[in-house]
Amino acid sequence: MKKKNINHFLHMKNNEEKIAALTAYDAVTGQICDQNQIDIILVGDSLGMVIQGHNSTLPVTVDQMVYHTENVARVTKNSFIIADMPFGSYINENDALKNAVRLIQAGANMVKMEGGSELASITKKMLQNGIPVCAHLGLMPQSINSIGSYSVQGKEEHKAQEILEHAELLMNAGAQLLVLECIPARLAATITAKLPIPTIGIGAGPDTDGQILVTHDMLGLTTNNFKFCKSYCNLSPSNAILNYVSDVKNKQFPTMEYTLVQ
Ligand code: KIV
Repeated sequence: MKKKNINHFLHMKNNEEKIAALTAYDAVTGQICDQNQIDIILVGDSLGMVIQGHNSTLPVTVDQMVYHTENVARVTKNSFIIADMPFGSYINENDALKNAVRLIQAGANMVKMEGGSELASITKKMLQNGIPVCAHLGLMPQSINSIGSYSVQGKEEHKAQEILEHAELLMNAGAQLLVLECIPARLAATITAKLPIPTIGIGAGPDTDGQILVTHDMLGLTTNNFKFCKSYCNLSPSNAILNYVSDVKNKQFPTMEYTLVQ
């Protein structure tokens, strides 16, 4: 298989072929995604919650994003890798460029930033320096302190219009992909139809060009129970661990089958 690039996704959009994306923060998950037809792997700053146990993405640092991007990139041969620019890492052009370069050097093919038109000039500068940008609109978890809760954005007509305008501005500034998180399905469909760049939705209904989920959520490894997330793994991790504990305590594991040398 050939390593995916941004042109694949444009082609997929134009051919109405859906883009499948998942998060990965480590080599095992990255490899499973890479070997099973995942088009885009996102090294998301959601690792702040999933891996680090924080209650937001805010504590995640550039050093940590570089570390996780390297771990994923080392084993990824086919999927396109997007790395999140963490909170505070793109407050001005110089910081944004310096930090994005680190993520690209760690193995990302593109960086993602949360925000609207205020990121237009940074997006333009990134592209001029060979750094492709994925925009992220709708629910922007890095803004949790200003929005107050992780809720659907763009429900009111004027807010929906604002999101559409930000999307157009960012695309005109050079953004080549757009993540739409937790917005009404109708708004996601409108943006997807209006913009020539591919949109990737999460909690944004069925009409975006692609979908992304947090892998740990769709495998049932987290206790999150989001309405937008379908569970794809019947194995309950709690049951697996309880079975192991029971086997050890009842001397059912290890049997000879798992014994190396007698
Ligand atoms: O950090 C992340 O995992 C994300 C996705 C939820 C889109 O930004």
